[in-house]
Amino acid sequence: MFINGAFVKGQDARLPIWDHGLLYGDGVFEGIRAYAGHVFKLDDHLARLVDSMRGVDIRLDVDSVALRELVCEVLRRNELRDAHIRVIVTRGIGRPGLDPRNCTQPSLIVMAYPFPPLLGREPIRMISASLRRKAPYAVDARIKSLNYLDSILAKLQAIAAGVDDALMLDLDSRVAEATGENVFVVKNGVISTPLLVAALPGITRATVIDLAGDLGHAVQERALTLGDLYTADEVFLTGTAAEVVPVAEIDGRVIQGGETGPITAELIADYQALVTSGQFATPIFASRGRNRDDD
Ligand SMILES: Cc1ncc(COP(=O)(O)O)c(C=O)c1O
Repeated sequence: MFINGAFVKGQDARLPIWDHGLLYGDGVFEGIRAYAGHVFKLDDHLARLVDSMRGVDIRLDVDSVALRELVCEVLRRNELRDAHIRVIVTRGIGRPGLDPRNCTQPSLIVMAYPFPPLLGREPIRMISASLRRKAPYAVDARIKSLNYLDSILAKLQAIAAGVDDALMLDLDSRVAEATGENVFVVKNGVISTPLLVAALPGITRATVIDLAGDLGHAVQERALTLGDLYTADEVFLTGTAAEVVPVAEIDGRVIQGGETGPITAELIADYQALVTSGQFATPIFASRGRNRDDD
């Protein structure tokens, strides 16, 4: 992995406990995937990282071209062609006290590792969490920050209920997203997804909207209630880590008889075809750099 200027083995990576990413969750990150030697939509992820940094006013002295090369170099050094990649930028190492001026320089970490689809490939069971998504007028939903406690508390509720994941509502009781995925519903052939009020602007969400368009389905972005999901013909989640995941059950309501619906199945197939096609992709091995297996 790469950590603050050096390539090191994962077990040798060290970060002082005074890093404000640890002390206060003061930082942002991206989760990215590489397929078959290509990083999918790397520039979109780096653009979102830049937006997240702007949102919290972290000024990293590394431009997007250098970041792109760094991601590829970490993959090359690990000889990974299929991987999940995490780019983390924290406020940096500083004295205690949450004043960002205590930190002189952001910390930058890039790591990559094999990672199967986060929620598996089978239709999943969900509950709606009683906990709400963090208020967008407190933390902008566009900021992919190191603070995931609302998602983690919702995930704990899902685990306690014996299901796979939780849906989270916003403060107006509209469906926002899952703990780390965006959500879509299909009803009478119409696909809808929540507005980006309290949901991360997912890159997989945008990809799936385009794929649905290619199939002749315009996707409606609109306010959705839990009732819209309970009565849907199909529900599915999207995310880089999870990819496209069918939902079999929400709060005990079985959807599509617990099977993957036809539109969901089409989108899963098209998504897999796209991410392995080399389109929208940065080749890992075409750019300069050495191949090493030591870190
Ligand atoms: C809260 C949240 N929503 C949605 C997503 C899906 O976003 P993407 O498709 O860009 O991975 C993620 C994953 O990053 C997430 O953490």
